[in-house]
Amino acid sequence: METVTIQNLSAYNKQDVLLKGWVYNIRSIGKIWFVILRDGTGLVQGVVLKGEATDKTFAMEQDLNREDAVIITGMVRMDPRSVGGYELAIREIQVVSHVSEEYPISPKEHGTDFLMTNRHLWLRSKRQHAIMRVRHQTVKAIRDFFDSQGFTLIDSPIFTGNAVEGTTTLFALDYFERSAYLTQSGQLYQEAGAAAFGKTYCFGPAFRAEKSKTRRHLTEFWMVEPEMAYCNLDENMDWAEKLVCFIVNRILETSEVELDILERDMSFLERIIAPFPRITYDEAVILLVDQGTDFKYGTDFGAAEESLISEQFNQPVMIHRWPAEIKAFYMKRDDINEELALGVDMIAPEGYGEIVGGGQREDDLEILMNRIRHHDLPMEPFKWYLDLRKYGSVPHAGFGLGLERTVAWLCGTKHIRETIPFPRTMTRLEP
Ligand code: 4AD
Ligand code: MG
Repeated sequence: METVTIQNLSAYNKQDVLLKGWVYNIRSIGKIWFVILRDGTGLVQGVVLKGEATDKTFAMEQDLNREDAVIITGMVRMDPRSVGGYELAIREIQVVSHVSEEYPISPKEHGTDFLMTNRHLWLRSKRQHAIMRVRHQTVKAIRDFFDSQGFTLIDSPIFTGNAVEGTTTLFALDYFERSAYLTQSGQLYQEAGAAAFGKTYCFGPAFRAEKSKTRRHLTEFWMVEPEMAYCNLDENMDWAEKLVCFIVNRILETSEVELDILERDMSFLERIIAPFPRITYDEAVILLVDQGTDFKYGTDFGAAEESLISEQFNQPVMIHRWPAEIKAFYMKRDDINEELALGVDMIAPEGYGEIVGGGQREDDLEILMNRIRHHDLPMEPFKWYLDLRKYGSVPHAGFGLGLERTVAWLCGTKHIRETIPFPRTMTRLEP
């Protein structure tokens, strides 16, 4: 008999199949009982009926527990009332391993802290499973996008000798006889990559010693970072817009079942369409003041301001040309106003906050050295980076898209810790 997966059951209507999985739930209505089986690809209801099932299997009802590992044989039957449209008329259940203790995660309400402590088990539940599948599809969409647009994957290192995004969020570690840091961003290496390959990207974990406990911050998160040679700020925004549209469309195509489980209102995603509004920082500040806030010009937007701005548009909003003082050392200044940096943040709709940060890079050697000094950064670890301005420097730009914040928005999940398999925060290192 063929071993099949739940997600492919529709190809086996009226056929006998074998499924390998775990007991998700059991319920009984007397002469007939049901077992919900999960196999990692989905859930299916199995019906155990006297006569259809072997006597031994029919008698198993009291002995089966949640999360028992089981191999089941039975016949696939179309059933429009069932989740997935099919059910399984069970013939035989073989128990591979039996759970003798009560499973910690019951259908009743649990606090998030308890669930996170049991994250290794929580991943099996329907919602978490759906979120991880959307994450998987998002990663694939991102790779497919860049791979189809002439980008070369250039992995940036994780151990680095210098800061990228300011020294306050660096994780330092002993590295033989010197100190090293976990990377905050692979950008500087992508700049080397773009000068070698034209268009590159890296996609991996980034680390920030964020002492913030907000629902948008992790200490370890994943970021995709494209970098393009001969690219200015406007073209950079075009790329960010194209990428986000591509991801949204792909998720709408591939993840309807998951979004349905998550009760995500798909119309919020269906209406995402380019071009996204592009406003300057100055315009954003005017907008905030018009809304009655007492926002101070020259500071960064917090979650409240981002939400207020995004509420004005039903699309992701790109905010560009920021006060240089609050942006990183590598940002190029605006020709028209030296006080402004050619940076861009993309704010997701519905209050999900900043999902993209990037901009055009300073390409002049002297100016860049001055900026490094101005930011009190040591020159030595940037020697190689400065070389990029000595040998064939060109206008170039790029950005970083945070995977978890993007997935949170796609799924409509308020807290990003649910969008990564094993979240790392200030207070959580296990499991
Ligand atoms: O805006 P950020 O700090 O930009 C950079 O790191 C640039 N060097 C990227 C580049 O131009 N190549 O981070 C980019 C994105 C943010 O918009 C956000 O989505 C995500 O990374 N991010 C975080 N996600 C979760 N937890 C954190 N602590 C995050 N910090 C940034
Ligand atoms: Mg940012």
